[in-house]
Amino acid sequence: MWWKNGVIYQIYPRSFMDSSGDGIGDLRGAHARLDYLVDLGIDAIWFSPIFPSPQADFGYDVADYTGIHHEYGTQADFDALLTAAHARGIKIILDLVPNHTSSAHRWFVESRSSRDNPKRDWYIWKDPKPDGSPPNNWLSYFGGPAWTFDAHTGQYYMHNFDPGQPELNWRNPDMVAALFDDIRFWLRRGVDGFRIDVIDRIIKDAEFRDNPPNPNWKPGDLEVGSLSRVHSEAAPGIHDMIRQIRAVFDEFPGTVAIGELAYDLSVEETVAYYGAKREGENSGDGVHMPFNFGLLLKAWRADVFRAYVDEYDAAIPSFGWPNYVLGNHDIGRIASRYGRAQARVAALLLLTLRGTPTLYYGDEIGMTNTPIPEHRVLDPQGRNKAGFNRDECRTPMQWDDSPHAGFSTAPDTWLPVAPDYPQVNVAQQRAEPSSTLNFYRRALAYRRAHASLHGGEYASIDAPEGVFAYWRTAGDERHLVALNFTERAQTLTFDAAGGELVISTHPASEGRTLDAGEVALTADEGAIIRIR
Ligand code: NOJ
Repeated sequence: MWWKNGVIYQIYPRSFMDSSGDGIGDLRGAHARLDYLVDLGIDAIWFSPIFPSPQADFGYDVADYTGIHHEYGTQADFDALLTAAHARGIKIILDLVPNHTSSAHRWFVESRSSRDNPKRDWYIWKDPKPDGSPPNNWLSYFGGPAWTFDAHTGQYYMHNFDPGQPELNWRNPDMVAALFDDIRFWLRRGVDGFRIDVIDRIIKDAEFRDNPPNPNWKPGDLEVGSLSRVHSEAAPGIHDMIRQIRAVFDEFPGTVAIGELAYDLSVEETVAYYGAKREGENSGDGVHMPFNFGLLLKAWRADVFRAYVDEYDAAIPSFGWPNYVLGNHDIGRIASRYGRAQARVAALLLLTLRGTPTLYYGDEIGMTNTPIPEHRVLDPQGRNKAGFNRDECRTPMQWDDSPHAGFSTAPDTWLPVAPDYPQVNVAQQRAEPSSTLNFYRRALAYRRAHASLHGGEYASIDAPEGVFAYWRTAGDERHLVALNFTERAQTLTFDAAGGELVISTHPASEGRTLDAGEVALTADEGAIIRIR
């Protein structure tokens, strides 16, 4: 199945390629860069939302699930992109935002128009407490209460995120049926799947009880963390609802549903989203892949990573398929979190663990977080100082050393281009054999060509402190992956007569023959060893 053995590449549409000259990325721009992605060696593109939106949360506030945002192009542009991607063997995954719409969605416009509007119950409306305050203590991720008062009808509506993102009521079957039709609209057009935004949050406590305080919270930490979110999300009934979502995807065999979850879930909570095994089938009734964010917030330490991967890999149900994420549009860039040299080791990890990797645009050239001057901050989370300013990891793709990094011909771009673009860009790295881009290309091509890496078994081995090493095996084909998380040279011994070092973060090592079961790694080196 393509989504098991392939590699997913996330495009943040505003920032990938601008074809129209307005400083904002668009679909024709992405279309024009498809051959770059073929050359890179990925299998599927996940587009963050491309639907009409006031952009209060840059597309995660959807005003119409079945249209295309005017700054990104037209339906015809999308169809052309889909056809061109398919012609190149690339699948297209869109981004479904089912937990909330934009306040500009016609459903919400109707819902807020009167208390007896037929769509009133499609959203979550509650009376104020007798003193006029919000119905309960739930907090928004972007700061402040999760409730906004609507004077026109005298009730509060709920929003986990921006007030411009009212929560849909998943206990209303008419709303659910309408949303399912909107999903079908795209699957019928040939879209290969959806990444599903905050899928664990669609069902809240039926009684809207207060969240209890979080005992681990300290003053100075983010306000949203002061409560445990036990009632505001993942309430009983969540898995039944996801089963119904999955049934829509099952109408279109071969499509994939990938669920986005909270970052702080345990392995057990994460794997519960595969659902239950279906009688007589090797599949579950949950999402095909619940995004695995377990490594995202971990310290860069071999023992920490090994412990997590061992636990997660062992917990995947027999009918499930693992996946790994190290970066996306909500968190700091890999090269900023771990360091530039370490980022290559992290990439090799991502591309060689058992499971589907999701890459974030620009990580393949080692883009870093870009500080954004205060007056240019656009991200609602950044503006409210409610956490990391996500603009920093959403700056335009760096294609070459021409103005605006070849991203746009506009006088200015929607977010500033990172100042390192004259040195860090696709054109420069394509020409430099030892670049991060060429390292990704080699690793992706090698992974594609070897079943043990894109589909085989995983087993970690004991290694010197600071080294994470594991076997990947399929039939007679065997590879050892050895990752040095430290800045000192290390030697790893392994149980095999020898092999060849086929891929390394340090290309000069590639092609080395290893006669004994021993490999010497330099500082921050990751390597794939093919066992003879
Ligand atoms: C998760 C998305 O990845 C993030 O960018 C967005 O702000 C929230 N969900 C709300 O949709």
